[in-house]
Amino acid sequence: MRIFSGIQPTGRKHLGNYIGAIEQYVAYQDRGEAIYCIVDLHATTVPYEPALLRERLYDTAAVLLAAGLDPARCIFFRQGDVPEHTELTWLLSSVTAFGDLNRMHQFKEKAGAQRDLVSAGLFTYPILMAADVLAYRADQVPVGDDQRQHIELMRDIAQRFNARFAPDAATPPLVVPQGVYREIGARIMDLQEPERKMSTTGGTEQGTVLVLDEPKTIERRFRRAVTDSGSEIRRAPEKPGISNLIEILAAVRGSDFASVESDFADARYGDFKLAVAAAVIERLRPVQERYAELRPDETALEAILTAGAEKAHAIAAPVVAEVRELMGVGPNPRRSGPDS
Ligand code: TYM
Repeated sequence: MRIFSGIQPTGRKHLGNYIGAIEQYVAYQDRGEAIYCIVDLHATTVPYEPALLRERLYDTAAVLLAAGLDPARCIFFRQGDVPEHTELTWLLSSVTAFGDLNRMHQFKEKAGAQRDLVSAGLFTYPILMAADVLAYRADQVPVGDDQRQHIELMRDIAQRFNARFAPDAATPPLVVPQGVYREIGARIMDLQEPERKMSTTGGTEQGTVLVLDEPKTIERRFRRAVTDSGSEIRRAPEKPGISNLIEILAAVRGSDFASVESDFADARYGDFKLAVAAAVIERLRPVQERYAELRPDETALEAILTAGAEKAHAIAAPVVAEVRELMGVGPNPRRSGPDS
């Protein structure tokens, strides 16, 4: 089984990224051939500073390695190092419906947040994401809940490509991938506005816990987390703040909602919030320590990413060559060679 996922080098990684995605990446290294990519090309679709993008890329690489990605057990690389991603994006754009792109929630949200330019890249972002996965014929894509619509679209793109260009193939050229979502922790919400997902771009600063935040900052964020007027620690639609805290603690402990609810049946909100903060601080402490060791050595980070890109390229190149050939573009395999 092959696994693929990608993460943006924008902003700073937060607890939602960590619980919803990064922990899954680490676990999936033992479940198959895992391929993970930092998507620098995706990061160019909104306004950004080139020098800062490079900094954030190293930050993100160091966070992922600190969290447990092991280059000996997975392929870890930078998207922009492997040109097959961009080529396949163009090829797949011919089997992507404009109407489908136009329905993407993330496009609407991000387009609405732009002051000046809404780039065409922001609109075609989901095709690049489809190309990321389809270039590796990946079977499973571990992601957070907010990526569901993008995953559905990449499945449609793969199916449409197979039906259009290889209708009779015994083995379809592109694998139709499946999204995999954590049962608990696929959607971590903002601590201040628990109706919104935690995010460094769309959420509140006070309601966002960063992987690299100091323990006292983390504690403060949880202590001030919005709850409701009741006093019971249980999950309910009218208690989004408490429900989110229960979900965070269950995910961090690797337990379930019921055991968190029963452990805190007699607790007050204040004590419960401090317990969640303590668990998160403990979970992030080793990641932060390891990050401090890894981040300064950019040469070592580059070496890991470059070696990963070579391995990624070796997998993606023949897949993209086959796509090109099936579409009838590029070098003609029947007319190449010394006699042609
Ligand atoms: P990105 O960089 O925004 O987020 C990285 C991962 O974190 C998950 N996530 C969350 N999970 C739970 N709760 C939250 N509040 C939360 N916020 C973010 C995301 O679902 C994601 O899994 N388009 C993707 C990057 C991408 C990609 C790919 C993913 C590019 N190519 C190919 C999978 C396969 C993105 O922007 O993720």
